[in-house]
Amino acid sequence: MDSFSIVPTGKPLSGEVEISGAKNAVLATMTAAMLADGVTTITNVPYLRDTKTMSNVLRVIGCRIDGGPHEFKVDTHGANHLEAPYELVSTMRASFYVLGPLVSRFGRCRVSLPGGCAWGPRPVDLHLKGLEALGANIEVTHGYVEATSNGRLPGGNFRFPISSVGATVNVLMAATLAKGTSVLENAAIEPEIDSLVDLLLSMGVKIEGRGTRSLVVHGVEEMHPGFSETIPDRIEAGSFLCGAVISRGKVKTTKCDPIHIKSLLDIFEEMGCIVHTGKDWAEVDASSRDLKPVHVEAVPYPGFPTDLQAPLMAVLATVPGESKIRDTVYIDRFKHVAELNRLGANISLEGNTATIKGVEKLQGAPVMASDLRAAAALVIAGLVADGETRVSRIYHLDRGYENFEAKMAKLGGMVVRLSDQS
Ligand code: EPZ
Repeated sequence: MDSFSIVPTGKPLSGEVEISGAKNAVLATMTAAMLADGVTTITNVPYLRDTKTMSNVLRVIGCRIDGGPHEFKVDTHGANHLEAPYELVSTMRASFYVLGPLVSRFGRCRVSLPGGCAWGPRPVDLHLKGLEALGANIEVTHGYVEATSNGRLPGGNFRFPISSVGATVNVLMAATLAKGTSVLENAAIEPEIDSLVDLLLSMGVKIEGRGTRSLVVHGVEEMHPGFSETIPDRIEAGSFLCGAVISRGKVKTTKCDPIHIKSLLDIFEEMGCIVHTGKDWAEVDASSRDLKPVHVEAVPYPGFPTDLQAPLMAVLATVPGESKIRDTVYIDRFKHVAELNRLGANISLEGNTATIKGVEKLQGAPVMASDLRAAAALVIAGLVADGETRVSRIYHLDRGYENFEAKMAKLGGMVVRLSDQS
């Protein structure tokens, strides 16, 4: 298993870094391709472990994935094995997104339940309730969801009791091939949902309410293949900007959408950084700034994202004074706290609130990544720690960051991959 060795250079990160396509957008658009018979083209695809896993899930179902690494031609003509096995779904929850397209297009499928994740239970009850509201029959047996529909799904209305990205993705896709009109209330409005809506519109369905919490889907008998240019990865952009601030540097992220990370940029300004943005770039300058502590809440978009909670916590561990981060989306997403404290941070937890008392200097140490964003946080902390930091289990990071070490090196960060053979 690979690990990272991070040796501080003593210099702040500086320069420009180009942002890749968004993992959480392309995982949805790849599955949406199955709503039509034929070849859907997806560009600006990030080259990640998770996009490879999704390709394997679609291949198991009978699709062909041509092209790559940054452009996929998803050919669904051969899709006839209507099952997503535990072996794949358990490694990547987003594989569960095949449920909506398969039951609405083929009238039946069998998809493994995803199971828990690194930081706790992540139920899919809203996915199932939403599909039932559209008229699907759902049975859960032996760890699998068996979904059937007697002919086309009738369609229906569903109100999500809480905002869920994944449930919105699954139910929205299923509604496109339903007989009637479906109204989805309190839908998630993350940019990844808009990018999915754009692909579905290009495949021939009428959807009203893009960008709002109320989506009206006018179901069609048949969709045709479509096209999607993957949106920039706002979480990757935010992670590199956290690297800039923790090292008191100045970094510009290009090929990104500053609107998608506005909540983070506002926090950096509140901390005392200088922030500039353009149409497709964002720059944060924390050089020679006395940074101030902040209180932050992770909430659904457009609020501060839970996926940047860990990287920002690493930054706040070095800011004098007392900061707080409360995660309202995942109340137990704090596995990185103990590892950051191993690096000399002073973070305490009470329920879903972390209190971070800034320390003068972090200390390098061996630490273990528990999940994707925790891995990024530990690397970012290692950039400014005294002495070497070793982060193990970085396979988590490879799931969602493309060319991470090379991009860090471009900014002056020294992150070296050590594989077991080396
Ligand atoms: C998506 O996960 C992202 N994953 C996550 O990013 C991200 O943390 C999350 O949205 C929140 O922004 C992908 O896009 C592939 P949710 P998802 O359904 O869809 C509860 C990363 O680091 N809930 O919006 O699984 C759930 O437990 C990953 O890239 C139910 O109770 O998240 C949570 O508390 C990690 N029942 C809340 O809703 C359900 O059926 C929001 O979850 C579904 C969700």
